[in-house]
Amino acid sequence: MSSETSPAIDALAWQESWDRQQEAYLPDREERISAMLDVVAAVTNGAPRVLDLAGGTGSISLRVLRRFTTAQVTLLDMDPLLMGIARATFGNRIEYVSLDLRSPNALAAHFADKRFDAVLTATALHYLPAERLSAVYAEVAHLIEPGGVFINAESMPDDGLPDLNQRLLDYRRRWRESRYATGAALSWPQWWELAAQDPALAKLLEERRALLGEKNISSETVKPVSWHIAALREAGFREVGVVWRGLTDAAVAGVR
Ligand SMILES: C[S@@+](CC[C@H](N)C(=O)[O-])C[C@H]1O[C@@H](n2cnc3c(N)ncnc32)[C@H](O)[C@@H]1O
Repeated sequence: MSSETSPAIDALAWQESWDRQQEAYLPDREERISAMLDVVAAVTNGAPRVLDLAGGTGSISLRVLRRFTTAQVTLLDMDPLLMGIARATFGNRIEYVSLDLRSPNALAAHFADKRFDAVLTATALHYLPAERLSAVYAEVAHLIEPGGVFINAESMPDDGLPDLNQRLLDYRRRWRESRYATGAALSWPQWWELAAQDPALAKLLEERRALLGEKNISSETVKPVSWHIAALREAGFREVGVVWRGLTDAAVAGVR
């Protein structure tokens, strides 16, 4: 029997491709991550312990390490393929945790003795039902050192603008579709189709299918920003508020 080795993953090319695909949804993605890192810089000593929660390929981890070269980064996600791209990118420079945030108390069980200065997450927690998201906020609060921060950047419309929000979403959808039509950006399904064609990702894709099935996880908790503020307060954060806004998206922060 011949022992076949998989071809190497072109990690930086897949990172770039992921960025372009995400930017079709979030043209201000770099700006929001940069704002999150400004908050981290303001509350930590320059060598922060950061948890990139539901971090996928590690887009936030990558930017944390560029900005805070001595940071200790932990990347948590449940998707074997996205985590595989992350592993190919960072090697043993960061820690990896495969964990499903839908499992109650899995965070506390995994990080029994570990604490972070910052827990950052973007465009991910809408996959959780609202009840579970509130519980995750409370579970995350216990992982953060006093004075540390949690930041969630997501679709979080301002409650005062229901009609305008709808128009903004329609505008953004038209903008995105014109980018797909011209090939300026890849759509979510196109990105996954391309990943399926790369022999270097074949084993990871198999693992992903075994774990998650053929379908992508369906999304669904889009709550107004007031809901997130109330949920973070309830979760025990000392100070809670908005640190960044871009149209219908926002980043909310909770300070321990
Ligand atoms: C749209 S991606 C965003 C990834 C990254 N934060 C970024 O901005 O590029 C959403 C991520 O959430 C992860 N995710 C969704 N549900 C999850 C769950 N229940 N537990 C852990 N990760 C989850 C997905 O695997 C995916 O990596």
